[in-house]
Amino acid sequence: MTIGARIGTPGSASATRVMLLGAGELGKEVLIALQRLGVETIAVDRYADAPGHQVAHRAFVIDMTDPKALREIIERERPHLVVPEIEAIATDTLAEIEREGIAEVIPTARATQLTMNREGIRRLAAEELGLPTSPYAFADSLESLRAAIAGGIGFPCVVKPVMSSSGKGQSVLRGEADVGPAWDYAMSGGRVKGGRVIVEGFIDFDYEITLLTVRARGASGEIETRYCEPIGHLQKAGDYVESWQPQPMSALALERARDVAGKVTAALGGRGIFGVELFVKGDAVWFSEVSPRPHDTGLVTLITQGQSEFELHARAILGLPVDTTLRDTGASAVIYGGLEARGIAFEGVAEALAVPRSDLRLFGKPESFVKRRMGVAVAAATTIDAARENARTAASRVRPVPGEA
Ligand SMILES: Nc1ncnc2c1ncn2[C@@H]1O[C@H](COP(=O)(O)OP(=O)(O)O)[C@@H](O)[C@H]1O
Ligand SMILES: [Mg+2]
Repeated sequence: MTIGARIGTPGSASATRVMLLGAGELGKEVLIALQRLGVETIAVDRYADAPGHQVAHRAFVIDMTDPKALREIIERERPHLVVPEIEAIATDTLAEIEREGIAEVIPTARATQLTMNREGIRRLAAEELGLPTSPYAFADSLESLRAAIAGGIGFPCVVKPVMSSSGKGQSVLRGEADVGPAWDYAMSGGRVKGGRVIVEGFIDFDYEITLLTVRARGASGEIETRYCEPIGHLQKAGDYVESWQPQPMSALALERARDVAGKVTAALGGRGIFGVELFVKGDAVWFSEVSPRPHDTGLVTLITQGQSEFELHARAILGLPVDTTLRDTGASAVIYGGLEARGIAFEGVAEALAVPRSDLRLFGKPESFVKRRMGVAVAAATTIDAARENARTAASRVRPVPGEA
């Protein structure tokens, strides 16, 4: 099947088949966008009844870090496109799948390999592409971490396991006394045993943004790069709690941000959306990290853009044209579980949706944790402040409660 030339009928021999590896709230929205375009969808996650499982033609539960299990499901389902939604995947298997021509990996297998490890993407961005980043070093022991800090990184600095996400195992260090605890915490929070960490100089930014960047086929048939308006966001304890769009920036900072995003996404290649995370202070811009997939802070685009980041991703991967136009100023606010239980319920939904120009996504996750993201409220308004306030109000009106009541 030539991507971009035709879309078949789901369930028939002509079907265009897309497999999502990871079927959380972001994958669920991508799957819905694909469903609308008549794509046959396959959702894979590590637990049953994941959000995306609930909206796909077929749902599978496997350990995606297991090379054998991953290859088996791809060979059995024969998707045309394999679309990673998370980092914790056997990416070497994806590279084999791509090399053997079994399926196309979005955006490329190499992009998934480089971005699953902070070292790969940092060295690419800073050392190969010469992009501005925080000063950094890597360490494999407490002693080498101390040496790296003493040798130039200094305090304050940030220590992160090279294989981790959502702020897991990450800490800010203010002085000598913080080094030991930061090392221990990093060792407990990484995705794999045997610790390697990155230590970064702390950037005292004015604000941070996600610059959603799309690589999609343009009218000429060549891959073109399009940018969404910058998304501002607030991070708390390693998780995003609020985002808004557009984040006002100086013309020079915006130009620099696009330049950085354009270069790093071009180096990763392929088609699809990328969430490029940048720190901004005045006109200065630092590259932080990039996800070769939709970004959680981009949930705001469900209300701000004519085509959300999920629709942009679906179109781009299918070889279709995209439009990144901003329609409205808006904001998103996260709804946490607040309790530990299976099969919870949400009260206050009607009150939440009474907020003007608001909307909700309840992800349908089978199990709630205190700090698990269970939903999101989005709101449009004439100003960023009003949109943020309305999104927060809508989110706060949703009350997760035990299901059996
Ligand atoms: N070098 C740094 N200087 C200042 N703040 C940082 C730095 N690195 C990370 N942060 C803060 O921590 C957040 C999470 O870090 P990030 O590297 O994006 O980890 P994750 O992969 O878990 O999202 C960032 O969004 C930013 O707010
Ligand atoms: Mg991040």
